[in-house]
Amino acid sequence: MCGIVGYVGAQSALDVVIAGLKRLEYRGYDSAGVAVLADGGLDSVKKAGKLVNLEKELVGHPLPAGSTGLGHTRWATHGGPTDVNAHPHLDNAGRVAVVHNGIIENFAELRAELAERGHKLESETDTEVVAHLLAEQFDAASGDLAEAMRRVCRRLHGAFTLVAVHADAPEVVVGARRNSPLVVGVGEGENFLASDVAAFIAHTRSAIELGQDQVVELRREGVTVTNFDGSVATVRAYHVDWDASAAEKGGYDYFMLKEIAEQPKAVADTLLGRIDASGLLTLDEVRIPASVLREVDKVVIVACGTAYHAGMIAKLAIEHWTRIPCETELASEFRYRDPILDQRTLVIAISQSGETMDTLMALRHAREQGAKVLAVCNTNGSTIPRESDAVLYTHAGPEVAVASTKAFLTQLVACYLVALYLGQVRGTKWGDEIRAVIRELSDIAAAVDTVLETMEPVRALARSLADKNTVLFLGRHVGYPVALEGALKLKELAYMHAEGFAAGELKHGPIALIEEDLPVVVVVPSPRGRSVLHDKIVSNIQEIRARGARTIVIAEEGDEAVVPYADHLIRIPATPTLLQPLVAAVPLQVFACELATARGNEVDQPRNLAKSVTVE
Ligand code: F6R
Repeated sequence: MCGIVGYVGAQSALDVVIAGLKRLEYRGYDSAGVAVLADGGLDSVKKAGKLVNLEKELVGHPLPAGSTGLGHTRWATHGGPTDVNAHPHLDNAGRVAVVHNGIIENFAELRAELAERGHKLESETDTEVVAHLLAEQFDAASGDLAEAMRRVCRRLHGAFTLVAVHADAPEVVVGARRNSPLVVGVGEGENFLASDVAAFIAHTRSAIELGQDQVVELRREGVTVTNFDGSVATVRAYHVDWDASAAEKGGYDYFMLKEIAEQPKAVADTLLGRIDASGLLTLDEVRIPASVLREVDKVVIVACGTAYHAGMIAKLAIEHWTRIPCETELASEFRYRDPILDQRTLVIAISQSGETMDTLMALRHAREQGAKVLAVCNTNGSTIPRESDAVLYTHAGPEVAVASTKAFLTQLVACYLVALYLGQVRGTKWGDEIRAVIRELSDIAAAVDTVLETMEPVRALARSLADKNTVLFLGRHVGYPVALEGALKLKELAYMHAEGFAAGELKHGPIALIEEDLPVVVVVPSPRGRSVLHDKIVSNIQEIRARGARTIVIAEEGDEAVVPYADHLIRIPATPTLLQPLVAAVPLQVFACELATARGNEVDQPRNLAKSVTVE
């Protein structure tokens, strides 16, 4: 939540910062602002609304050319999305500019203290207190901005990334990090700070991961990182293994369309290098020793939103393939219910961004109880993998659209690998069985491709439903989380009432919602294997159709039993039941994307949302 960019170097700071903010706008788009140091002064422009509003404002109020600056794109927490509440925030003398991501929990107390000392605060934000405190500490620390930042940070409670400049410290940018993300980009004669490497990837692929409670001082010629207590910090430098084109639309109208299309490759990349010559798994990166994994007697999965839906499916795979009891929990609920965990519990934290605060807090709680934590994550160097015992990266590449698509599919693949690996090290699955599932998994990328090639009727159907108010989704077994995911996509993109139900629960209440011509999407399990499940859902389809529902049935090729009851039939390739979500979720992504477009909504940046949710 909130995108931050800082720059010092030889280029126009304004150009670098605005280009960086464009790549970070997915993190929040309530308001945006920039500040530049030039000619011994500090100038700032900020505006409510999307970045494009700021750009228009800059045409009327151009900033002087300077090579040190910062910028921010906001997802509002304290104070509504107004011009005044937009970042940067300045002190009363207009010498300090600060941008912030996170929440400063003791801001009210600090604000009262500042008011007593005569400071005038204008906004409703928690951030503004930092600008005023920094101005005071800058003088007290004899113009050492990094030292001033350390002193201020020691007074703050909560989660924060801060980036600041001071007119009396030209060519210096300082940043601070506690809980929220901040990465350094190391260039030649120039350096960058950003919430995400995407902001500076066009300039450098050398990055430094900042740790918890660290302050970084950026100058043209170098970067110095210290801990909040002033001691020299240890940091990890790394090379970003994707380039700028991965974070561009590449000819698609929306990032979401591009990311949906990238799914076959993302799935294949997530399998790559993880299967040995004999067809078994080699997951050396899971640094939890096999001896520890053999002792695990319970698995708990924590995640939010789409990642939680992946976790619900992972539970079924883990229990089926390993016979270890597994629970999947909403990360935001987890630690508040005093969960039972110990050294023999394996907690799997699934997160695309690696920054979701609810998931981070859940994993911290799990580790405090002695559990081992394995992260399934898409973002190298982010907080969740850093704080976990091990990580299995999903190789989806950057996901920019706010609604998750390719991350979901790769989370599923990674979770299947974890489940099979547990089976492999514990011997609950024999080598041949594991090899067989791996072969089926290896075929899935091609099956996803097939689904993508047959989506035109789904798009046409979506357009025809653009004036509906409600769509329901039903599924059983792995189809239930897929139904929840289909409903979530529709809610967040089309702003429609969309609900997912376990089809068997329908008769216990939700069937009362069925009325004439209500669209109901049903995810049908394969008739092969668990045919009882299939037969049950065919009965459910008949029940809702008898009550007037317009049935939209997603069923595998060759499943003829559903044909008489499907008003619309969406075919997917036949796959083993547990792997079906990898193909069944795709039409639902396309459906939601097209419906949102037909309703005139912003696909990549749905209202009120942000990509990376760094507040609890
Ligand atoms: C929905 C969506 C969200 C995220 C959730 C978790 O399309 O993207 O529900 O899945 O906010 O985010 P991560 O995976 O970054 O922890």
